[in-house]
Amino acid sequence: MGAAMYALQVLALLFVAVIGAAVMLTAALYVVDSTQAGDAIRRNYPVIGRFRGLFTKLGEFFRQYFFAMDREEMPFNRAQREWVYHATKGKDNTVAFGSTRNLNIPGTPIFVNAVFPPLDDQFATTEPMVIGPHARVPYVARSIFNISGMSYGAISRPAVEALSRGAAKAGIWLNTGEGGLSPYHKVADCDLVFQIGTAKFGLRDETGGLSDEKLRKVGTDPQVKMFELKLAQGAKPGKGGILPGEKVNEEVAAIRGLKVGQAGISPNRHREIDDFGDLLDMIGHIREVSGKPVGFKTVIGSSDEWENLFKLIIERGPESAPDFITIDGGEGGTGAAPMPLIDLVGMPIREALPRIVDLRDRYGLKDRIRIIASGKLVNPADVAWAICLGADFVTSARGFMFSLGCIQALKCNRNTCPTGITTHDPRLQKGLVVEDKYVKVANYARSIIKEVETIAHSVGVSEPRQMRRRHVRIVQADGSSIPFNKIRPSYNPDTAK
Ligand SMILES: Cc1cc2nc3c(=O)[nH]c(=O)nc-3n(C[C@H](O)[C@H](O)[C@H](O)COP(=O)(O)O)c2cc1C
Repeated sequence: MGAAMYALQVLALLFVAVIGAAVMLTAALYVVDSTQAGDAIRRNYPVIGRFRGLFTKLGEFFRQYFFAMDREEMPFNRAQREWVYHATKGKDNTVAFGSTRNLNIPGTPIFVNAVFPPLDDQFATTEPMVIGPHARVPYVARSIFNISGMSYGAISRPAVEALSRGAAKAGIWLNTGEGGLSPYHKVADCDLVFQIGTAKFGLRDETGGLSDEKLRKVGTDPQVKMFELKLAQGAKPGKGGILPGEKVNEEVAAIRGLKVGQAGISPNRHREIDDFGDLLDMIGHIREVSGKPVGFKTVIGSSDEWENLFKLIIERGPESAPDFITIDGGEGGTGAAPMPLIDLVGMPIREALPRIVDLRDRYGLKDRIRIIASGKLVNPADVAWAICLGADFVTSARGFMFSLGCIQALKCNRNTCPTGITTHDPRLQKGLVVEDKYVKVANYARSIIKEVETIAHSVGVSEPRQMRRRHVRIVQADGSSIPFNKIRPSYNPDTAK
C-alpha cells in the first residue's frame, strides 16, 4: 500500500513537473516570438504561429499519401510513379477495372489501334542503330530507351553504381552528366556517353578550357561510346550546372577540380561557342580528337533560330553535322535550379520535338543526325509518342530515379534525399542497396521497351521504329482528337503519311 502511494506521489510530481516545464517553455517561446522582428505571423500570434510552418511541411507528406488523387501531383503523379515501381519488379504490370486517366484533356495522345494487328509470330525486334557513321569508331546503339545525364555529385555513389550495373544488364547507355567520369560509372561494362558541360569537368585544362590531351585519353576508353556537348538542359536554359556546396565532398571535389564544400557553378554557356559555326567547329574538333561520335544537348526556345544550324550544315556538308541532337523539354528535371527557369523557360518536349525533327528531315539529314528526346518521358506511352513523332531514341533521368526508389521528396538540392539517391550522407546512402537496385534499373528499362513494343503491335506495325505520326491522335480543346500527321505533316517521305 505504502509503495503504491509512493509511486502515485512520484507520478503526480512528474506530472506537475512536465506541466510546469511546458508552461515555462510556452512562456519563453511567447517572449521570443513576440519580440523577434523577422516573422510577422509569429510576432502577431506568438507560439501558435509556429504551427503554420510545421503544418506546411507536414502537408507535403500528407497530401502525397492521403489526399492527392492518382493523376494529380506534379511533377509526376502517383499513377506514373507506381507504373515505374511495378515495372522494376520485372513481373506482370497490369492494372484492373479501367483507366483512371481523363481522356478529354487537350494534348492527350491516343494511339490508333489497327483493325488487324500483326500476329505474335510477325513481331520483329528493333534493330540497333548506327550513330556517327563518319567518326573513327561509330556507335551501334542497341536500345531505344536509355539513361539521361545525371552527374556523380548530383547523385550518389551507390546510385551511379546501380545505374551502371543496371545499364550493362539491360544493354542500354548511361550518360555521365556534366560532372565527368567517375570510377562508379565503370563498375560494370555498360555503354557510356560522356557529357561535356560548360565547366568541362573531367576534361578541363588549367584555364578551364577543353584539354585535348584528356579528351584523347577518354576517347580511347572502349566504354565511352559518344560525347555529348551540353548547351542547355530543360530545367535551366541559360544557366550552368549548380552543384550545391553541401554535396561537394572530397571525392566529388577531386573529380571536378573544386575545393571541398565549394559549390560547383558552371558557366552559363561554353565560352568558345558564340554561334552555330563555332558549335560545328567544336563538334568536329571533339570528334577528330576523340574518334567517337559527338552530338549536343539543348532545350529549344524558338525553332526558327535553329533553322540556321541546318542551313550551315548543308553549306559545310553533312559530314560536319552533329551525330545526334538531344532535345530536352522545358519540363526536364534537375538537381538544383532557380524556380522561374524550372517553371517557365524553354519549350516543352511536345512542341520542341516535332519542330526539330521537321527541320532535320526538311534538310535531308534524317539518316545523318539522330534525335534523342527527353522530358518527362517515363512511361511507355510517352516513349511511344516520341518515337511516333520521329525521335530515334528516348532518354530519361527521373524515370530511372524512380527505379532506384525515388519517392519525389523534392530534396535533390539539399543533400538530405531520404532514399540515398541525391545525397552524399552515408547514413542515407545505406538505404540504397546496389545489389537490389541495379536489377530494378534493368527491369524498368526492359519493361518500357516491352510495352512500347506492345503499343507498336497494337497500332499495326511489327516494331516501335515503324510507328509514324498517323499512329497517334491528339485530343483537342473540344474533346475530339486529330491524327498527328494532320496537325503537323512529316517532311520525311518515309513517314509523310
Ligand atoms: C538529379 C538530376 C541531375 C541532372 N543532371 C544533369 C546533368 O548533369 N546534365 C544534364 O544535361 N542534365 C541533367 N539532368 C537533366 C536530365 O538529364 C534530363 O534531361 C531531364 O531531367 C529530363 O528527363 P526526365 O524528365 O526523364 O527526368 C539532371 C536531372 C536530374 C533529375
